[in-house]
Amino acid sequence: MSDNRNLTRTHSSVAAVQRELMLGQRGAVIWLTGLSGSGKSTLAYALERRLTKMGRLTFALDGDNVRMGLCKDLGFTPEDRNENIRRIGEVAALFAEAGVLVLTSFISPYSQDRATARATSKGSFVEVYLDVSVEVCERRDPKGLYKKARAGEIANFTGISAPYEEPAEPEIRVNTEELNVEECVDKIVAYLDTKGYFNVESLKKQAEEAQA
Ligand code: ADX
Repeated sequence: MSDNRNLTRTHSSVAAVQRELMLGQRGAVIWLTGLSGSGKSTLAYALERRLTKMGRLTFALDGDNVRMGLCKDLGFTPEDRNENIRRIGEVAALFAEAGVLVLTSFISPYSQDRATARATSKGSFVEVYLDVSVEVCERRDPKGLYKKARAGEIANFTGISAPYEEPAEPEIRVNTEELNVEECVDKIVAYLDTKGYFNVESLKKQAEEAQA
């Protein structure tokens, strides 16, 4: 643990809502969780394309990519996954505070880690559970990893030799067996719309209140 006794938090004089007003959207962390092969990256990139077409500012953080950079020192033990998700949660919250719609695709198998990421992003967290069984993911096996895990070539493989704790109350649940990817995107976009993420009038009001 690092020594943080001599740190003092500083505060920006620009309210997050002022940036959001410039962008015409509320920042949010759209947190995709589910087994390997459940379709998280495919859905995140399809959602990114749709939102971009709608003129919305997005940024996608993807499990495999982040593990090649920010988290390249981490493996797949429970402790390393905790740290992986802690870092992603912090980075995602910063993007959201900057007004961006952040799309994260990480297995994030532990409920406690997702709860921490939710708390870090302070009220703008949308948990999307890709509810696809291990049997289906294993049948798809797009990267051949389930086969390797069954052969004992990968330790701590989620769904085979490591747990996945299902979200109890995700904001959105999608099953990529029942819905095609564009239908899953429709569901998420409709949710964001209903919850006022694109409501410029309410942003204006909040910005006025913040400046008053
Ligand atoms: S998490 O559990 O810490 O959230 P993350 O989403 O970053 O995992 O990384 C998962 C990706 O790493 C998988 O899509 C797969 O390509 C790869 N991977 C390698 N080893 C494992 C493993 N033991 N369990 C799960 N995924 C693994």
